[in-house]
Amino acid sequence: MDPHAQDGELLAESALRPSTLGEFAGQPRVSDQLSLVLDAARHRGSVPDHVLLSGPPGLGKTTLAMIIAAELGSPIRISSGPAIQHAGDLAAILSGLTEGEVFFLDEIHRMSRPAEEMLYLAMEDFRVDVVVGKGPGATAIPLEIPPFTLVGATTRAGLLPGPLRDRFGFTAQLDFYDTEALRSIVRRSASLLGIRLEGGTDEVIASRSRGTPRIANRLLRRVRDYAQVRADGRLDPRTAIAALELYEVDELGLDRLDRGVLSALCERFGGGPVGLSTLAMAVGEEAETVEEVAEPFLVRQGFLMRTPRGRVATPRGWAHLGLVAPQASEPDLFGDG
Ligand SMILES: Nc1ncnc2c1ncn2[C@@H]1O[C@H](COP(=O)(O)OP(=O)(O)OP(=O)(O)O)[C@@H](O)[C@H]1O
Ligand SMILES: [Mg+2]
Repeated sequence: MDPHAQDGELLAESALRPSTLGEFAGQPRVSDQLSLVLDAARHRGSVPDHVLLSGPPGLGKTTLAMIIAAELGSPIRISSGPAIQHAGDLAAILSGLTEGEVFFLDEIHRMSRPAEEMLYLAMEDFRVDVVVGKGPGATAIPLEIPPFTLVGATTRAGLLPGPLRDRFGFTAQLDFYDTEALRSIVRRSASLLGIRLEGGTDEVIASRSRGTPRIANRLLRRVRDYAQVRADGRLDPRTAIAALELYEVDELGLDRLDRGVLSALCERFGGGPVGLSTLAMAVGEEAETVEEVAEPFLVRQGFLMRTPRGRVATPRGWAHLGLVAPQASEPDLFGDG
């Protein structure tokens, strides 16, 4: 994508970000638990426990981090794992925090090892050890830091080392949204953007959004473009369906990448099992993108399974492509599979 287009997307995204828990649709359990954590901290007059947010892209991790700060009335400091190359970078950030500040660390699973170890100590004791000098003469000078709340976000909770995960007092696993919640997100965004949706249009968009608010908002903007250019600005279900077909979003919300992965799996590899890297190569994508973006939704839809021997298409996955799964092969009597 060209960088300006991406800037535009980011801008559009931040304009639609809810800023209170009350406006945050869906995820009722996470919302309830989080509001309890925040209330309890306010009640005690102390900083809340560190919070870990995990889940696929676009489900609201960054949004929740900002909501946490806003609900506490605290400033927020934002950084990300890949931006912290050296423990010193982290020490500089931590020592600059003010009391009660929220430190949002995105992509926390991509932090360097030494930084991670420094973070353990900071989370637990609000202290860092700054190493001065090199070699045998090096000394560690303990530096106190003001109490803060770390909000970590990751698309890959499984990659976090146990000791880091254990230091979070509250972990929220965000899941795909149901259509009802997505409809309310679409309606809220439409009214913020000044778009009038005729009856049922919210449902058309919501049910094709892969359970993901970011995608719901994006489809809404694309449908609006289409309506303005091709349909006299009318946003009704028929227009929305026509627009989404043009953008290659199917009736279950699978986009080009999702369908590419599924059809490569079925048509080129006989339904699997096939390894992730081979599958990614077949669709011309990074393994990480296939694993973090396409697969969670395909698994959730029951189209694809991750097995120890590789990725396997389910009969439902075959059926979605309009294909019939080949007959299951003879059971493996020699038992090595
Ligand atoms: N519960 C929600 N209610 C309303 N809008 C939401 C909700 N969750 C997310 N959004 C919208 O979706 C967009 C994407 O959310 P966000 O940036 O928080 O996702 P993320 O989980 O941080 O994604 P990534 O992993 O890519 O960083 C936001 O701009 C926000 O407008
Ligand atoms: Mg984010």
